[in-house]
Amino acid sequence: MTVINVGLIGLGTVGTGLVRIFHENGSLVENKLGFSLRLKKIAVKDISKAREIPLGKSVLTDKAREILDDPDIDIVVELVGGENPAKEFIISALNKGKSVVTANKLILAKHGKELFEIADKNAVDIGFEASVAGTIPIVRALEEGLAANKIEKIVAIVNGTTNYILTRMTQTFKTFDEALKEAQELGFAEADPSMDIKGNDSAYKLAILSMLAFGMKILPEDVFTEGITGVTPEHIERANSFGYVIKLIAVAESFNGKVSCRVHPVFLEAKHPLSAVQNEFNAIYVVGNAAGETMYYGRGAGQMPTASAVMSDVIELAERHFRDCKKKDCPSRVMETKTRSLFWREKSILPADEVFNKYYLCFPIVDQPGVIGKITTILGVHGISISAVKATIVDKSKNRGLVEIFTHSVREGTVKKALAEITGLSMLTESIFFYRIIE
Ligand code: HSE
Repeated sequence: MTVINVGLIGLGTVGTGLVRIFHENGSLVENKLGFSLRLKKIAVKDISKAREIPLGKSVLTDKAREILDDPDIDIVVELVGGENPAKEFIISALNKGKSVVTANKLILAKHGKELFEIADKNAVDIGFEASVAGTIPIVRALEEGLAANKIEKIVAIVNGTTNYILTRMTQTFKTFDEALKEAQELGFAEADPSMDIKGNDSAYKLAILSMLAFGMKILPEDVFTEGITGVTPEHIERANSFGYVIKLIAVAESFNGKVSCRVHPVFLEAKHPLSAVQNEFNAIYVVGNAAGETMYYGRGAGQMPTASAVMSDVIELAERHFRDCKKKDCPSRVMETKTRSLFWREKSILPADEVFNKYYLCFPIVDQPGVIGKITTILGVHGISISAVKATIVDKSKNRGLVEIFTHSVREGTVKKALAEITGLSMLTESIFFYRIIE
């Protein structure tokens, strides 16, 4: 029986999950494949460390080179994380004619083009299903299921930590800090959650999705990014009162050949399918010009959900290696698939200020005659059309009120200019806050 050998570098949470899948579902997988898939070697930092899973001594090594230099290993799984040495391991494996599976969103988002070119040159491939939204098969959906489509828009919740925090703030009116603490206690948020709460984790994932969807090299710095640290219980309460929920959303959409990529909190209409995505779950809503609306839902993190996505890539690559795709005259999937071959189209990013959205604007004010007039006059001068206005006294004793305005679709740069002007008005008691609206 043919054996396809796999080498694993990194035995942390997800690596351990992958070994579990090999142990628990190995025969099931082999029955489907019709050949043997063997986890031949695992490279770890410390061989003597106690492990959660039983492993033969001969399987472990503390030298990644033993995997990279082994001619019998066809597929290398990189689960080290971080940029280096993970990137060097990936490049070395590709140059040795091995396919690579990785969950490393940072490397894919920053160096995807370079790595795909190296894979292509060596007629091997990179599986990265686990790099975006954990277990959800969104890479396959974009590359295969929706291959016939021009992708018009992606709207996604791709960070479980922030979705958990915002869900709890909505359900319990906890403050951001309280909800973050709860997420950390339950293991949904890292000890250092800054990449999540500032939106960078979502930006990395959106860069990868956008690259797949629009065939351009889109880097994390091309993604306009705002996190959720400024979201307060008052914002949540105001959103709910108008039939919206606040979510951290990653959006990529195409406008006349240009692509806008952005991550920021939004007022999401309660009837939008993404508003039902609660707690640590992720979901990606994709609109294709032929398929129309589609949505993909599941766990974006966690040991077994992420390992499931890693194993799906191992299985796919093993099947292709089995079919002898390593022959020099057999191009790798980088060349075979239509979307990948578009990767190197010239990048054309639409700056965030040029994007059109509907807006919710909230002005905390001292209640006095002419307040609404002054605000709406400035908006009017900037050509911002209003769809609704509400004025409320929220604290009679302090004469504090809120003027809340919903706009029609307007250019972001125009809104920012108008708000900068309104910020100078003396009747404002606190900072203006605003949210983009998704319906
Ligand atoms: N920290 C991420 C999240 C999971 O909270 O979704 C890993 O990408």
